[in-house]
This record gives sequence, structure tokens and C-alpha cells, in this order.
Amino acid sequence: MWGRVFSVKAAALKLGTMSHNTVDINRQMNRFDTHASVWLFGYGSLIFKADFPFLERRPAHIGGWTRRFWQGSHDHRGTETAPGRVVTLVPEPGAVCHGMAYLVTPEEFAHLDYREKNGYLRLATDIHFEDGSSTEGLVYIATHENAAYLGPASERDIARQIAASCGPSGPNSEYLLELAKALRELGKFDAHVFEIERHLGAFMV
Ligand code: SIN
Repeated sequence: MWGRVFSVKAAALKLGTMSHNTVDINRQMNRFDTHASVWLFGYGSLIFKADFPFLERRPAHIGGWTRRFWQGSHDHRGTETAPGRVVTLVPEPGAVCHGMAYLVTPEEFAHLDYREKNGYLRLATDIHFEDGSSTEGLVYIATHENAAYLGPASERDIARQIAASCGPSGPNSEYLLELAKALRELGKFDAHVFEIERHLGAFMV
């Protein structure tokens, strides 16, 4: 897993310091460009907001990663001066992250790269489906090296920041609540997400 992260990081370094905007780096991730279709694993807004055409959608999970509200959002759920918080994945041996996988054509990545441009890099990963089958696909992950990364904070402090943040895509609280709802609909428990949701009410005016 880290080999893949490091190879993307090497690509980033070739392009210079990692900036907020990862579009140019992601364009170099051409591994699936010649495929007729590719599976994309979504674990955050990609679960509840599929604003792109897809051929098929299936609940899925990936291993070795855990979902955390540790990524700053300056472009969607916050602003440059008052970033919100959105999810990224953090490596954790033995962890399983549940989400939704979409089968898309490679042309969709132009739109997806733009949508995920604030620090997310396309990484190749094994995606596991509920029937026990698996396939290699892509996931967008914002590593701790990206400029928009905010890192760990208590669930209470994260809830406070989310309650106060709003950006062009709407209130940060909507992102959190939609994600929690989508995970419940999938029948998946996420202690971190649900604990932030529990604290949110105390900070909403
Ligand atoms: C994802 O949903 O898979 C990436 C993070 C996000 O866009 O919220």
C-alpha cells in the first residue's frame, strides 16, 4: 500500500511542492486510461453525492484504511480563510473502510479530479464487494503531506469546526449529516463519524 502512496508522492515531487490543487498530479495517474471502465471507491461525499454518470454502483470496502475528518476543505465546505473539515483515509493495519464503489468510464476522471482537487490523489487499491469478489480500482486519498491537511483533533473539536464552516458546496454540517445518513443506510457503523455527529447539535445555532 505504501509503495503506491510513495510512487504518487514521487510524481508530486517531480511536479514541485504539493499545492492545494492536485489536478495535474492526478492526470499522470494513467494506469486505467486504456480500460473501458474502472471501479472507483467512494468513502465520503462520493457515497452520497454521485454527480457523475456511472455504469453500476455497489456497496464495497477497502482494507488497511480508516475514515477520518482530518482533511481541510477550502473549496467545497469552507473557505481559504475558514476551512471546513471533510474525510480522508488514514492507514491503519487491519482496518476496514466501508463505502460505495462506482463503475465509471475513464473520461469521468477529468470531472472527479477537479472535484477532489484540494489535496486528494488517485491511488490504486483492491476493492472488495459484498459477494466476496474483488477488483483493482481507484480511490481518492488526501495524505498528511498535502497542503490542505488539518490532521487529528478530538471529535468534539471537529464537530465545533464543522458547525461553524460553510463553503460553495454548502454547510459543512450537511456533509457530515449526509455521510452519517448514507453509512446508516448501508448498515455500516463508523464510531468516528457518529461521535462527531453526536457532538454537532451542541454547536449548531
Ligand atoms: C470520497 O468521497 O471518496 C473522497 C472524499 C470526499 O470527496 O468527500
